Amino acid sequence: MNQNGRVSGKVALVTGASLGIGRACAKLLAAEGAAVAITDVRDEPGHSLVEEICQSGGTASYWHLDVADEDAVRATAKAVEAKFGAISILVNNAGISGVDKPTHEVTSEEWDRLMAVNVKGVFFCTKHVLPQMMKANKGSIINLSSIYGLVGAPDVPPYHASKGAVRLMTKTDALIYAPYGIRVNSIHPGFIWTPMVEGYLSSQSDQAAGRKALDALHPLGHVGEPDDIAYGVLYLGSDESKFITGTELVIDGGYTAR
Ligand SMILES: NC(=O)c1ccc[n+]([C@@H]2O[C@H](COP(=O)([O-])OP(=O)(O)OC[C@H]3O[C@@H](n4cnc5c(N)ncnc54)[C@H](O)[C@@H]3O)[C@@H](O)[C@H]2O)c1
Repeated sequence: MNQNGRVSGKVALVTGASLGIGRACAKLLAAEGAAVAITDVRDEPGHSLVEEICQSGGTASYWHLDVADEDAVRATAKAVEAKFGAISILVNNAGISGVDKPTHEVTSEEWDRLMAVNVKGVFFCTKHVLPQMMKANKGSIINLSSIYGLVGAPDVPPYHASKGAVRLMTKTDALIYAPYGIRVNSIHPGFIWTPMVEGYLSSQSDQAAGRKALDALHPLGHVGEPDDIAYGVLYLGSDESKFITGTELVIDGGYTAR
């Protein structure tokens, strides 16, 4: 492991950590010395990630966790504390893109499912990890919002609403829990090459053209990689960012600079 110990001694819980951005975050946090709780609804890639981390000398364990299930969130937070000690870094990463339909075609069920994962999931995980952090008088919560939580685009309306909510939940919790030494920040990725974005492109007839069009949305000329976000998470999770709370870390290749 390429370990500089930037988060050594810390315990991190990453949701949606089996694939994509969450996977990159879990790997990097482990490489930098944290004990990492990998949680997801996809068990097989989660277990293989644990194996990969442990084989390179890191510390990780897997828990099956649907973030939309409050009882499961409560139980997992306790189980992680029992195994590794109090959680000091929470990465609220699990998210779904939901339906890509204009607002007047979105059903109430489609709206509710998206909100259950992207908004309630963040609420449940934050709620049940906070008591551990409050007791320790320290902690860093990192919420994955999106450029779609900052600016509009003519697609995925429920997703935009959810990521806007996460942006402001972050700021409110930053203010409420600052007296406990707990920092809460959001990260706003541009398009990052993950299964979520691959899935989005797979619905298009010419995928190469779709990829080019996505690349062109970013002034740096390409979509990002999961590690581009993981390095932001590492910084916000480490004590290097000890004076940062309630902020929005935009990692988007310039998408929102226009
Ligand atoms: N990829 C992008 O371009 C991009 C851009 C901006 C924001 N984001 C946000 O970053 C986060 C990660 O995105 P990604 O691209 O890696 O997604 P992804 O779909 O590639 O991976 C998401 C992971 O979350 C898991 N997951 C889904 N529903 C879950 C649930 N209910 N409970 C627990 N785990 C669940 C999946 O199994 C998967 O492992 C999301 O919150 C997403 O909205 C992604």
